[in-house]
Amino acid sequence: MTANADGAPKARVVHEAHEVDTFHPPQKMLEKHPKKPHLSGIEEYQKLYKESITQPDQFWGRLARELLTWHKDFNTVRSGSFQTGDVAWFLEGELNASYNCIDRHAFKDPNRVAIIYEADEPSDGRTVTYGELLRQVSKVARVLQEMGVRKGDTVAVYMPMVPEAIVAVLACARIGAIHSVVFAGFSSDSLRDRILDAGSRVVITSDEGKRGGKLVGTKKIVDEALRQCPDVKNVLVFKRTGADIPMTPGRDVWWHEEVEKWPAYLPPTPVNSEDPLFLLYTSGSTGKPKGVMHTTGGYLVGAAATGKYVFDVHDGDRFFCGGDVGWITGHSYVVYAPLLLGVSTVVFEGTPAYPNFSRYWDIIERHSITHFYVAPTALRLLKRAGDHHVHGDMKHLRVLGSVGEPIAAEVWKWYFEVVGKEEAQVIDTYWQTETGSHTIAPLAGVIPTKPGSASLPFFGIEPAIIDPVSGEEKHGNDVEGVLTFKQPWPSMARTVWGAHQRYLDTYLNVYKGYYFTGDGAGRDHEGFYWIRGRVDDVVNVSGHRLSTAEIEAALLEHPAIAEAAVVGVADELTGQAVNAFVSIKDGNEASDALRKDFILQVRRSIGPFAAPKAVYIIPDLPKTRSGKIMRRILRKVLAGEEDQLGDMSTLSNPGVVDKVIEVVHEAR
Ligand code: WTA
Repeated sequence: MTANADGAPKARVVHEAHEVDTFHPPQKMLEKHPKKPHLSGIEEYQKLYKESITQPDQFWGRLARELLTWHKDFNTVRSGSFQTGDVAWFLEGELNASYNCIDRHAFKDPNRVAIIYEADEPSDGRTVTYGELLRQVSKVARVLQEMGVRKGDTVAVYMPMVPEAIVAVLACARIGAIHSVVFAGFSSDSLRDRILDAGSRVVITSDEGKRGGKLVGTKKIVDEALRQCPDVKNVLVFKRTGADIPMTPGRDVWWHEEVEKWPAYLPPTPVNSEDPLFLLYTSGSTGKPKGVMHTTGGYLVGAAATGKYVFDVHDGDRFFCGGDVGWITGHSYVVYAPLLLGVSTVVFEGTPAYPNFSRYWDIIERHSITHFYVAPTALRLLKRAGDHHVHGDMKHLRVLGSVGEPIAAEVWKWYFEVVGKEEAQVIDTYWQTETGSHTIAPLAGVIPTKPGSASLPFFGIEPAIIDPVSGEEKHGNDVEGVLTFKQPWPSMARTVWGAHQRYLDTYLNVYKGYYFTGDGAGRDHEGFYWIRGRVDDVVNVSGHRLSTAEIEAALLEHPAIAEAAVVGVADELTGQAVNAFVSIKDGNEASDALRKDFILQVRRSIGPFAAPKAVYIIPDLPKTRSGKIMRRILRKVLAGEEDQLGDMSTLSNPGVVDKVIEVVHEAR
């Protein structure tokens, strides 16, 4: 296969008995390219990839020095291993993340646009230059110092998608503090748990948020959370809407009043490469969210390297990632990758449906966006809304990225044809909160793609497919199994905050010597990877990662619920949807009102985005004799496969199955 687009853009290859289209980087994309892609073609990728695997010290040492500015150079590129769970990169090196994201670009060209702010109301936006960003970040960093924040302290950030959220994050980094951003869709209970787990003593927030024309009581949620966080000493409040909100004297201060006090330049604090840059909480297969910890040097190298090679970012590009800064996609591809590379990044506060379904396309058109990056769930929504909403020629688009969940072939094609007019390359990027940056993804302009496949591994990523039954690695092509990585890469998470053993047990001890992703995958006859989805109890709803155990724990907080089992079911719009089965305590009657109350319980406990789409009340849950809930039976019934329930000999209460079938049928 060649990567060059000479000839027809599509070639047909046969993949297992069915045909799959292979798409080469479109010729028109290469024609509108400001220069040339960073790599000359797939052969150069193969050469560099080989070097990254066989001589990682040489490869990453070179990239780390090329992509970042180090306050002090490193001598050791990497140490540690998966076996011992002590991976570290660029060990003696010192650097500062905010310096790398801001200062070095601001010194060269202070007027270059760093942030394109697209407010919820299309008329309210503005831009922030690198010079202005440096001033704002310096001031807020100084405010944090005044509050007693020091290197190594964690700061909670609970903000809507406004430029100040990025300022807050980089202000932490400037003084060596660890940012812990909590997605502003989380409830006060979830925020409280994250503040307590991280031990944050300062919270940065806003009076309100504004999304899709609706107001969100951001500060109110913080106030509720803080009732049970006695160690929080200060709250810095950015005025977004000017709502009349209560301020707790001695604790809460206004952002605009504090920044006025301090000079517009604060020198960055150099930190060690392995000093933590941030925590980001994510769901796993057990109830309690994990504070995934990323370090400074390795994480930044991963963000910059994938920005440069996967997205093929060049000077002057305008990058629009629709992810929220509360998730890893926002961290790596709204904030770090574009700013490290010195280009303009869009901070979008709103939703793809407000004020109408053309919002994304209007933004792309208005700002001559070159790169657009979004989760398939948004694309499914917009595809369903109708092609007439897609207007404007969006002629600067070169790369259309997809992230967070599998993209179905027909959505991929819609993205390519209707949005990209066949002049931009669609790249499906596979990665995780824990991987920090892309792990399997095509390099734009270089690697051909197949709809539904994340294609080939990024530099330094050595995938291995493991047979889940035998635990043995499957070599060669045309294999299926669970996806693992065989050697450490710079931007991998180093630990789970305060729970290193849990980190080892979740990622490194499942298959000794390998990093376990939790996903199933196939490697086709050409070595392309196809992600099949989670093999654990994680569900993916609209690209949001949720744990069934965490939702079950939330339901069990309701006084009327005796037992709960949550499963993910396929959903046309959201990819997967959460369905809950509950049994209720004596003295309660099944009713619609009760079901609504259960849904409300999850909204209150986790956040609206985790709310079950359906709740089924049944007398008893199907359980094994040892008391384990058999979720497989619930899944099968929901999928309409009640004739394929499989082995039920271990069920302690077989009679309950008919009841499950009856309740599900009644509800439909
Ligand atoms: C899933 C999001 C298929 C996967 C960046 C992974 C994907 C989880 C893809 C991580 C993709 C991510 N195709 N599935 N291109 N990208 N996933 O931590 O199950 O929010 O394990 O990171 O999303 O979700 P997280």
